Amino acid sequence: MTMFRADAVDVRYGGVHALKGVSLDIAAGQLVGLIGPNGAGKTTFIDAVTGFTPAGGRVVLDGADLSAQPAHRRARRGLARTWQSGELFDDLTVAENLAVSAQHPSWLAALGQTAGRRPRPDDVVAECLDRLDLGGLADSPAHAISQGQRKLVGVARALAARPRLICLDEPAAGLDTTESAKLGRHLRAVADRGTALLLVDHDMGLVLGICDHVVVLEFGAVIAAGPPAHVRQDPAVLSAYLGADDQSRRAAGR
Ligand SMILES: Nc1ncnc2c1ncn2[C@@H]1O[C@H](COP(=O)(O)OP(=O)(O)OP(=O)(O)O)[C@@H](O)[C@H]1O
Ligand SMILES: [Mg+2]
Repeated sequence: MTMFRADAVDVRYGGVHALKGVSLDIAAGQLVGLIGPNGAGKTTFIDAVTGFTPAGGRVVLDGADLSAQPAHRRARRGLARTWQSGELFDDLTVAENLAVSAQHPSWLAALGQTAGRRPRPDDVVAECLDRLDLGGLADSPAHAISQGQRKLVGVARALAARPRLICLDEPAAGLDTTESAKLGRHLRAVADRGTALLLVDHDMGLVLGICDHVVVLEFGAVIAAGPPAHVRQDPAVLSAYLGADDQSRRAAGR
């Protein structure tokens, strides 16, 4: 059974047909890239599957149809996301930023903790910081850390909710090459430990370097999909990026 399936996801914003029936499958622990020129519909796809914008089509996670569920229920079922703006709670420490996601306020979760089945929030926070090499920053205020560290904290915060899938909206934006490579190693490690990732980014080196499978959007529709080596040479992809901005062209190596 495919862990996550988006089937014919369709979004209209007034007269703009932002997503035209996009389908995409993700297996447990798979790292899938979603790329495409500015305005192709990448953020809209994340908004649609996580329940932040109304959409047609179906979203299925672990066999459960979540299409009619609001965002908070989808999150509780295991669909996490980060935001293109990379926002953190600036007045909180790094550890507190994660603790906000790690809390499970329901009586059932509390019972699970008492019975020892569900790890305590403090343990989850420590483990997620450790997995992204952020342990040394636990007590730093979020406003005092670097842009690269903020991106990693954003991923760690999503991970602290112990999701099945994290949708990442441009986590490498604003990072230099070294920081982006470090982020890539951490993302690969997160996927290899079983949490699936959907990676939206304009950094082609990052996406093509670490993803198992890449889907390319243009004008709200899938124009190519496959392993990175295949997508890199796809004529439709090359031509989509010829119309893109200089940064995307350089990133694509042309
Ligand atoms: N809330 C909205 N209302 C109206 N139109 C929108 C809205 N959000 C996005 N759009 C339009 O939908 C299309 C897809 O936008 P989207 O933000 O999903 O693209 P993107 O691929 O994430 O682009 P970028 O790489 O610039 O982040 C664009 O034409 C955009 O102008
Ligand atoms: Mg976007």
